Amino acid sequence: MNTRERKVVNAQITAIGKYLPEKVLDNKYFEQIVDTSDEWIRTRTGIVERRKLEEGGTSVLATRALENLMENSGLKPEEIDVIIVATVTPDMFFPATSCLVQDNVGAKNAWGFDLSGACSGFLFALKAGASLIQSGDYKKVVVIGADKMSSIVDYTDRTTCVLFGDAGAAVLLEPTEDLDYGIQDAILHCDGSGRDALYMAAGGSAMPASHETVDKRLHYIYQDGQRVFKVAVKGMADVSVEIMKRNNLTAEDVAYLVPHQANLRIISATANRMGISEDQVVINIDKYGNTTAATIPLGLADYYEAGKLKKGDKLILSAFGAGYTFGSVYLVWSMD
Ligand code: ACO
Repeated sequence: MNTRERKVVNAQITAIGKYLPEKVLDNKYFEQIVDTSDEWIRTRTGIVERRKLEEGGTSVLATRALENLMENSGLKPEEIDVIIVATVTPDMFFPATSCLVQDNVGAKNAWGFDLSGACSGFLFALKAGASLIQSGDYKKVVVIGADKMSSIVDYTDRTTCVLFGDAGAAVLLEPTEDLDYGIQDAILHCDGSGRDALYMAAGGSAMPASHETVDKRLHYIYQDGQRVFKVAVKGMADVSVEIMKRNNLTAEDVAYLVPHQANLRIISATANRMGISEDQVVINIDKYGNTTAATIPLGLADYYEAGKLKKGDKLILSAFGAGYTFGSVYLVWSMD
């Protein structure tokens, strides 16, 4: 849709949906398959259980999340202009998962693309979607964060397999002329010097799949946990404090910090640096683990469903992930 008349608008979230696969893997399950304990996992990460998708790829998670959004809001598939899927676990390299979702829901007027930003993927996609709305060319942009982490987790590696789960969540962005609402600001970063701290070595063009890559288990997540932990604490806290300062926000002004859910200790350190209290922090890592691109929209969906998000609430969304990638988005919630 190309409108020649351009108005100054913000992008606001006007609908939300989520999907969690039924299969639950609790900490006891991991005690049976690797040398770990429920106590270690809870105290080091905050995770109690996570979900696993048993059939199909990330497009299933993304499609179900969008279907849930459409049920919640009455949005019709043909109304959708753009579908952006943030994921590091696309069904395949191509076609893009966004194409599969577009076809699955019958969004016959939409175009779309996948965006790879790891745990910061949803924030990157939110900014991209908001810019499309602000361009004036599009009125309804769906942004989905979805990852089937179980497809790249090595269930013989105790240092990573306990951390991740599968989920999808989606938001609808629409324009608002009331600039007090919607996405107000974003600070986003890449730092590729962290490329060797958290990655999946094989399967891409640099190291295509071969017998050797399979034998060496190179199609799974590798993480130097301690190294990532240190930079994640600093990166997420720094960028969250910076966005507060830049927008003259005090801790009392912030209704919620909505952080990426990788580790409860990283979340607490970020909240401390922002000076905000525990009850101002969206937390669901206990139930779902780290669902990569899905954590932040899933947090929004959970808290909105529970009646905890109110129109006018000032929210700081913050993430840190592979790349490194990191960033913060400041938005004013506009749904009743
Ligand atoms: N069960 C029992 N022991 C374990 C387990 C486990 N599941 N995992 C590791 N250990 C052991 C280690 O082997 C080590 O033992 P050792 O001392 O004998 O060598 C010991 O526990 C301590 O290991 P650390 O790695 O130092 O543990 P740490 O407290 O750092 O916790 C964790 C590890 C949870 C991974 C943490 O480092 C972390 O959260 N890192 C950051 C994760 C993150 O933010 N990732 C970015 C987002 S993800 C993305 O972008 C896809």
